[in-house]
Amino acid sequence: MIIPERVTRDCFSISTMTDMQRLLAALDVFARTPDKASLDEANSWLQDFQHSPDAWSTCNLLLNSSDAPPAARLFAAQTFRTKVTYDLSQVDPPNLPTLRDTLLAALQKYTAGPRTIIVQLSLALAGLAMQFPAWENAVQTMINTFGVNPATVPVLLQFLTLLPEEVHTNSKIPMTDYEWRDRVTKLLTENSKQVLDLLSMYMQAPGVTIDVQNESFHCLRSWLMSGEVGTMELTESPLLGFAFEALASEKLFDAAVDVICELIHETQEIDDNMPIIELLVPRVIALRPLLASRGDDPDSIRGYARIFAEAGETYRMLIIQHPETFFPIVEAIGECSAYPDLDIVPITFPFWDRLAQVIGKKTSVSPLFQQAYRSVMLVIINHLKFPPDSTPLLGQEADDFRGFRHVMGDTLKDCCEVLETESCLLTTYGMIADALSRNLSWQEVEAPLFALRSIGGRVDPNDSVAVPKIMDLIPSLPDHPRVRYAAILIISRYTEWLNKHPAYIPAQLQYISAGFEATDREVVAAAGQALKYLCQDCKEHLVDVLPTLHTFLNTTGSRLCQDDKIQIYEAIAFVISAMPMDKAAESLRTFALDLLAYVHKVASSSHVASESDLGPVCDALESLEVMLNIIRSFGEQLPAACQNTCKDIWDIFDLLLSKYCKDENTAERACRVLRFGLGLFDEAVLPIAASVIARMSFSFEASGFSSYLWIGGKIIAQFGDSEDMELRGAFKELYERSTQKVVELLSIESAHRIPGGK
Ligand SMILES: *[C@@H]1O[C@H](CO)[C@@H](O)[C@H](O)[C@H]1NC(C)=O
Ligand SMILES: *[C@@H]1O[C@H](CO)[C@@H](O)[C@H](O)[C@H]1NC(C)=O
Ligand SMILES: *[C@@H]1O[C@H](CO)[C@@H](O)[C@H](O)[C@H]1NC(C)=O
Ligand SMILES: *[C@@H]1O[C@H](CO)[C@@H](O)[C@H](O)[C@H]1NC(C)=O
Ligand SMILES: *[C@@H]1O[C@H](CO)[C@@H](O)[C@H](O)[C@H]1NC(C)=O
Repeated sequence: MIIPERVTRDCFSISTMTDMQRLLAALDVFARTPDKASLDEANSWLQDFQHSPDAWSTCNLLLNSSDAPPAARLFAAQTFRTKVTYDLSQVDPPNLPTLRDTLLAALQKYTAGPRTIIVQLSLALAGLAMQFPAWENAVQTMINTFGVNPATVPVLLQFLTLLPEEVHTNSKIPMTDYEWRDRVTKLLTENSKQVLDLLSMYMQAPGVTIDVQNESFHCLRSWLMSGEVGTMELTESPLLGFAFEALASEKLFDAAVDVICELIHETQEIDDNMPIIELLVPRVIALRPLLASRGDDPDSIRGYARIFAEAGETYRMLIIQHPETFFPIVEAIGECSAYPDLDIVPITFPFWDRLAQVIGKKTSVSPLFQQAYRSVMLVIINHLKFPPDSTPLLGQEADDFRGFRHVMGDTLKDCCEVLETESCLLTTYGMIADALSRNLSWQEVEAPLFALRSIGGRVDPNDSVAVPKIMDLIPSLPDHPRVRYAAILIISRYTEWLNKHPAYIPAQLQYISAGFEATDREVVAAAGQALKYLCQDCKEHLVDVLPTLHTFLNTTGSRLCQDDKIQIYEAIAFVISAMPMDKAAESLRTFALDLLAYVHKVASSSHVASESDLGPVCDALESLEVMLNIIRSFGEQLPAACQNTCKDIWDIFDLLLSKYCKDENTAERACRVLRFGLGLFDEAVLPIAASVIARMSFSFEASGFSSYLWIGGKIIAQFGDSEDMELRGAFKELYERSTQKVVELLSIESAHRIPGGK
């Protein structure tokens, strides 16, 4: 073996031996359970080594030494691959043939494996072939070297499988587009016929092993994917037939499915591919009976489902134009959708989605398609069913199932696209009514309810046929938490419809309110969400129920957790925002004073509030904040109800902060409300502005919390040009005190560690 001069200049010198020993030592670090420092050190040494010019010869020695540890030899092969990609410029062009022969010799030594080394050396050879145009007949060299002896054929197939992938995906190789295109032609295009013939030959060679057939299919797929094997060439090759025959072999099944799917995919330009499509489609359709006969083997069904779905997606136009020929594909996909294994069902979803899009654009299609989508809809609603109570889903399984229900919901929308929403709604309604009349399990009721929620987005707010029936049904649903949860979320999805049909609101509002009484956390949260959306979308119709909401808040509401309470306050704020100005102001005042009464109670108590006393204070302030965030302002002229409240309210905040300004949550919550208060009261703030500024100064000085400066800054922005002497004095004082405080903070901590100081 001749090694390039530059590469090997100190091949057998002490320094190389040392390199080798250091390399082995560095790799050995990974075999032990190292500490981070030695790991980092070994890593960094290995990286430097990989880029060094000496690595070529060291790695060659390693690969050729039978007693080097396997990990070291694999590392050597990987290093060749990496260096061919990044460092080929280290090799003088006259030495490239020698490097090639070195790699070929190494690969020959490893024809029996391990596979990982074969892969790395194949990639190195592929990378070299791309950058070494003088190696004219690289593929032929490989065929001559490895393609004759049956024992080395797997190595050749491995190389041929990796070559198109490497050519198309290794963008790290430094070459121009022009050079790249030239190499694609030389390495791939000009060899595709020969590779096809070679694969056909191996496939039927006497004594061929399953392994070689398997690798041949992978190789074929790789060349198909690269676009280098024309689909027409395949029609003339026996490989097409072999692929379908191989479906009968358990060991070749997956490889054959991959090839068939890829082949179908490559015929998507249907006009150019008609002859092969005419060959393919009857063979695909002929697979359909296997769905029944192999139905107890999910792995087979998964493979067939992939083939049918690929054919369905690729030939969707043909399916619509010629249902008499192609419809069996749709039926087969329908059977796959109905298969009980929920890992297989979604393979069909993209097909239903894309076909629905095509149908959506047509004015008329065969009624066959509507039947197909109607069956899919029923099948999906069936898949949506929770398992019986005796075998509940747990943990991850339960999470996966819930996630998957939403994916199925999207396919239901596709069904409604084809079936018209109203008919979809009526069918689903019928399923619920039927389950109720036959006293079926809650699972039978819940699944169609979930479906109604999924298709809620498609409901026409003017519908007067299906939705009224559904709304009338809701109050009579069985009292099961999952059912109630699903029903409440339907209401929350259909609020636009309710807004146009206010007669239905009271019953639904009552159903939601009852949800707050539930012991199930999710039901309560759903009720909060539904109430919020109902009040947002139907606010004009809910003005009269505001007192009821208020009572509700005081009774049931007081037991809810803060997150749910906030939803109710948001709901109430939406309703208030729909009221005439004066009434709105009065209502807001009522709710605000209720909330602030609690704040005042804590603030004025002689008892020093603990953190747990301040929690509810912060909650009350947060509730007030979400209301103000929705209502924002009553315009320039304050309504009567608000005219004298500004000072009263400020007094409560002033008292609170005079005692608790150092509690971080209280500071944050109070300042956020103050911020909205400034907007709401606007000019009416002026008389108390100096007092607010003073409180902000003191509070910042005491606590260092930046929220106080934020409010101070807002007031200066709002009233900065006021001539009021007291206010100007307050501004000055705020400036002085805060500057001094910041200097003090900076002397202890660097700026980026002070909260809000970034
Ligand atoms: C590999 O080592 C053998 C001896 O063990 C030697 O004859 C051969 O030339 C070496 N090959 C390479 C490629 O270095
Ligand atoms: C076929 O090849 C693939 C990848 O090359 C491998 O994962 C699979 O196990 C092989 N199957 C058989 C039956 O050898
Ligand atoms: C409905 O079924 C439940 C349990 O399955 C049973 O307890 C109940 O009595 C049945 N009701 C009617 C009206 O049949
Ligand atoms: C609903 O009906 C109203 C009038 O009756 C009409 O203006 C509106 O466009 C309709 N909306 C839809 C979504 O059809
Ligand atoms: C709600 O409770 C507050 C005090 O907690 C009370 O002042 C108010 O009158 C109650 N409102 C209603 C409508 O019950």
